[in-house]
Formats: sequence, structure tokens, C-alpha cells
Amino acid sequence: MKKTSPLLILFLISLSAPALAAGNDAARKDILDGYAAAVGPGFAGFSAERGRALFLGPHAGGKPETPACATCHTPDPRATGHHYRTGRDIPPMAVSVTPDRFTSQAEVEKRFGRDCPAVLGRDCSPLEKGDFITYLAGQ
Ligand code: HEC
Repeated sequence: MKKTSPLLILFLISLSAPALAAGNDAARKDILDGYAAAVGPGFAGFSAERGRALFLGPHAGGKPETPACATCHTPDPRATGHHYRTGRDIPPMAVSVTPDRFTSQAEVEKRFGRDCPAVLGRDCSPLEKGDFITYLAGQ
């Protein structure tokens, strides 16, 4: 079998890294577009500032142990979080540190469905979900 040149391998790796990043961005944009459509005709754009407020809290209405998303995800989105009860590590939410954040619709919906009721005592709206992702995509 012909031996593949190490240079060729390096070249292929250099091609695939930006391609992966572009794939993540496209997948995240699809998810955001879906939430924008769900907001409906009055949609005037997502707000990183509102997303930040949602992330940091504090909120009433949910479990007293979890007044904010930051309770588990830490107030610094670039830091590793810790589940408040189990102590298990949660990789940073900032897309700059964890590039594949918010790229699976199923995973994102599953987690919003658990985490919003725990913190807010209700589901997050499509606008809140888009704000949240917009904030962390810029971190
Ligand atoms: C009780 C701890 C806890 C709290 C509080 C919490 N989360 Fe999470 N969250 C997790 C865990 C655990 C994961 C899954 C592990 C991971 O994705 O790294 C996760 C993942 C997510 C994800 C999936 C991210 C992705 O890349 O797919 C979203 C979205 C999310 N959380 C939103 C929220 C929001 C919004 C709040 C506040 C309203 C919140 N979380 C509060 C524990 C928590």
C-alpha cells in the first residue's frame, strides 16, 4: 500500500478544522432560525443582553437550590460548570471555548425542557431560548 505523506495528512487536518467550525455555526444558525420563526411576526431580533440576564438570574419560581442557570453553569460562561447536586463537571457554555455548543436541536430542546422549569418554574419561550444561545455564542 502506498504510504500517505505526513504533509498531506497535515494539509487534510488544516482543511477539516475550519470545515467543522463552519458546520457548527450552520447548525447553530438553523436552531436560532427555528426559534425566530416560532416567535412569530412580532420578532425583532434576539438580544445577548436579555440572554445574559436570563443566564445570571437570580430568578424566583423554580427550585430554591437553582435560582439561576449560572448555579450549575457558573457565572463565567468560559469556565467549567458543576452540577450543584452531583458536583459533576459541565463543559463551558461559551461557544468560543466549547465550539459544538448548541448544535444539536434534540440535545438543546431536551436541556431547555429540564433546566428552564428547574430555574424558572416554567418552560423558556422561543425568544428566551434564542436570547440565551445568542449571548453564549458571543462569549
Ligand atoms: C441543575 C444544574 C443546571 C442548571 C441550574 C441549568 N443547567 Fe443547563 N445543563 C445542565 C447539564 C448537566 C447539562 C448537560 C451537560 C452539557 O451540555 O455539558 C446542561 C446543558 C444545557 C444546554 C445544552 C447545551 C448544548 O450545547 O446542547 C442548554 C441549552 C442549557 N443547559 C440551558 C440552561 C438554561 C437556559 C438554564 C437556566 C434557565 C440552565 N441550563 C440551568 C445543568 C444545569
